[in-house]
Amino acid sequence: MKRILQALSIVLSLVIGLGAIALPVRADADLATGAKVFSANCAACHAGGINLVNTEKTLKKEALEKFGMNSVAAITTQVTNGKAGMPAFKGRLTDEQIAAVAAYVLDQAEKGW
Ligand code: HEC
Repeated sequence: MKRILQALSIVLSLVIGLGAIALPVRADADLATGAKVFSANCAACHAGGINLVNTEKTLKKEALEKFGMNSVAAITTQVTNGKAGMPAFKGRLTDEQIAAVAAYVLDQAEKGW
């Protein structure tokens, strides 16, 4: 019984350890995808986090907070469906690309662009 428990705890710590290594790698991959999606689809209006069309609604941290856009869910919805002067990307970007670009925008906002 003790042996089994020992073996189990080794397996468990291996799984947790590998998970800890794998997670950041995946996050980096998503951000790299997000950066590509952004430069191809968003930079025309939002290069460097600005907003050429509606100058108040930038992608800077303060603006995202002010307009309730500081979450992956809120950005995903807006990118999918569009809003006012911003086009909808549904059908043009996959759900994965939209999630990746949302994560990228939040990461850049956190870093100050
Ligand atoms: C043709 C110009 C244009 C393009 C291209 C565009 N946007 Fe926008 N974006 C806008 C406008 C205009 C708004 C303000 C919409 C509103 O009135 O709420 C906006 C708002 C936003 C906001 C909310 C900002 C805030 O402070 O409330 C986010 C986040 C955003 N865009 C992300 C993106 C992403 C990501 C892409 C690319 C997938 C993209 N946009 C492509 C014009 C654009």
